[in-house]
Amino acid sequence: MGKAIVKIIVGLVIGAGLWVATMTFDFPPVFRWLFFGYAVLGTVVFLILDAPTMKVMSGGKALVSLLVFYAILCTVFISGASLWPQYDPEDEKGKIVKILKGKPNILDPWKADEVIARTKELDLKAKELTERIKALGTVQGAAGQDAGAAAAVPASAGASGGDVLKIGEEQWQLQECYNCHKLKGEGGKKRGPELDNIGTLLPQEEIAKKILDPKSYKAEGFDAEYDKGKMPDKYKDLMELKDVQALAAWLSTFKNASVNTPKPIKMK
Ligand code: HEC
Repeated sequence: MGKAIVKIIVGLVIGAGLWVATMTFDFPPVFRWLFFGYAVLGTVVFLILDAPTMKVMSGGKALVSLLVFYAILCTVFISGASLWPQYDPEDEKGKIVKILKGKPNILDPWKADEVIARTKELDLKAKELTERIKALGTVQGAAGQDAGAAAAVPASAGASGGDVLKIGEEQWQLQECYNCHKLKGEGGKKRGPELDNIGTLLPQEEIAKKILDPKSYKAEGFDAEYDKGKMPDKYKDLMELKDVQALAAWLSTFKNASVNTPKPIKMK
């Protein structure tokens, strides 16, 4: 009995020593328990060494005992191991997500599905919108022709007149020409010429030329602005040719003589 107590004390001292060692080496807390557990296990082994010898078994009894022992061992190990957090797939998932945190979603295998689903959704929406725009174009094209506007515009872009005028007006807004040019009493904060009578002064193709190359014409009285190149020379890069033509076609319908649009002087 006294021998057993000595063994237990030695085991606990070794366990404590291991505990302190894991702390000084900054091991995670779970390792303190692990090493302490090993010390306890070792102590148990040494205690068993002193246990009275078992009766020797033989034959069928020995075989059954062996199998039972094996079964108990397996159960203890498997159920014990399954208690460890790393045998839980959710826990592993959590760790991987933690590692990937802050990286783009694409790298996160559990978000990839989400991203793909979202992409498909957006793609569908885009298609839907395209359909709607197409439908609108047809309706307005028809309306434009009904109003007789088509006759005023050569169908240069291959679309119906209503379409072209509509596109022209959209380009006026899109390219923000209104920032510098007053039209229908709106815009022109940066003081370019008012354009309400440009249709009388400049044919459609020349308006297109002015848009594509602002140096091609100079508005009379706007010498300083012309020399400084106030009108941006960027639309030839930003716009498609058919859009420039549509914008010019739309502008050429403005023939309001009561507005003093300056005379365009051909420069080149
Ligand atoms: C940053 C200001 C600015 C923007 C934006 C701008 N323009 Fe101009 N534009 C001017 C100025 C200033 C003039 C007068 C000097 C000149 O002729 O270059 C002018 C002249 C013109 C003229 C000649 C007018 C005349 O009476 O001779 C036309 C046509 C014209 N712009 C069309 C457009 C169209 C169409 C857009 C949009 C695609 C546009 N401009 C965008 C500043 C601008």
